[in-house]
Amino acid sequence: MTLKPPSWPAAPADIPDADPVSDRLTGDTTTDGTTTDGGPAGGSPARADRGGSDAPAGRPGQQAAGPGPAPVPSRPDRSDPGLPELRASGLRLAYDNTVIVDDLDLVVPAGRISVIVGANACGKSTLLRALARLLRPRAGAVHLDGRSIHAMPTRQVARQLGILPQSPVAPSGLTVVDLVGRGRSPHQTWWRQWSTADEQAVTEALRATAMLELADRPVDELSGGQRQRAWIAMAVAQGTPVLLLDEPTTFLDLAHQIDVLDLVVDLNRREKRTVVMVLHDLNQACRYADHVIAMRAGRIVTQGPPAEVVTAELVEEVFGLRCQVVTDPVSGTPLVIPMGRHHSPRPAAALKS
Ligand SMILES: Nc1ncnc2c1ncn2[C@@H]1O[C@H](COP(=O)(O)OP(=O)(O)OP(=O)(O)O)[C@@H](O)[C@H]1O
Ligand SMILES: [Mg+2]
Repeated sequence: MTLKPPSWPAAPADIPDADPVSDRLTGDTTTDGTTTDGGPAGGSPARADRGGSDAPAGRPGQQAAGPGPAPVPSRPDRSDPGLPELRASGLRLAYDNTVIVDDLDLVVPAGRISVIVGANACGKSTLLRALARLLRPRAGAVHLDGRSIHAMPTRQVARQLGILPQSPVAPSGLTVVDLVGRGRSPHQTWWRQWSTADEQAVTEALRATAMLELADRPVDELSGGQRQRAWIAMAVAQGTPVLLLDEPTTFLDLAHQIDVLDLVVDLNRREKRTVVMVLHDLNQACRYADHVIAMRAGRIVTQGPPAEVVTAELVEEVFGLRCQVVTDPVSGTPLVIPMGRHHSPRPAAALKS
């Protein structure tokens, strides 16, 4: 592996908008919207949250899956004080004339792992992109530590917020190590170029994602799963206190999915990074989230600790899917078992371990 200074402009603001890699770091890819960067629209009431933190861990709709550990309560569903707070107020997000998200309020628990779940096209990526400043709200605002992210200098945002978009595209021929090194560009200035700290961050990110051996390979010659891990390494190397990951486990085999999710937990627990990720696997969401945010048609239906909010009723409401929710025998978190048209409930089946 050849670690070297990246061959792109050091400051994200210097990178032309057409470069998709810099877009995912810094850019505002949507220009058709107006914004109210001056502050939140204000006055919009918080969404009904059916998952109050006082709700009991054992709840209607969840059965025991046979012998196993007692349900493990989620970590407290509140922010760590002193960490950067990410908050959306009165958000309206649209593409051209189509409003996708309207009047959305969200406070991301700082220092926690939040997972957004919801059906295809309900607006998860749209919300995540707005939180990352990749999409300009038509109304409302996103605040990081009380400051509108649209009013903050680009470099400052990129030092605080890292995002893995849903379908990132690397420039042709870019090697893995160069891609991951690009994650360090927000930390560089004209007086402090590529440093030992950057080199260490890149090496560590490559190691954590098992990409060291592939470091010199062009990204566009990798398998889907390898490519996904290269992008995750880039987001990790960026070293931001807030990490936004849109379907980080896409393309990964089951073992690598668990590796990546465990890595996310490591980053959260060791470095207190705030994580917001979109996951489609509800059972992984329940295992790895401190806080689940369930979306439907551009709205937050409910949010809270998985043990309190993930029920058969919620799955039916959000996905239109009948299921049973039992207790995961390994983690003690909710385990969603879908029914489908060809399988009807057999009580005995759920009890076999
Ligand atoms: N760039 C775009 N231009 C126009 N419409 C868009 C654009 N991106 C997304 N949309 C539309 O916005 C809606 C929400 O899309 P979004 O990508 O946020 O969904 P999602 O919840 O992330 O879905 P998925 O689970 O399939 O990733 C969809 O109807 C989609 O077609
Ligand atoms: Mg999406």
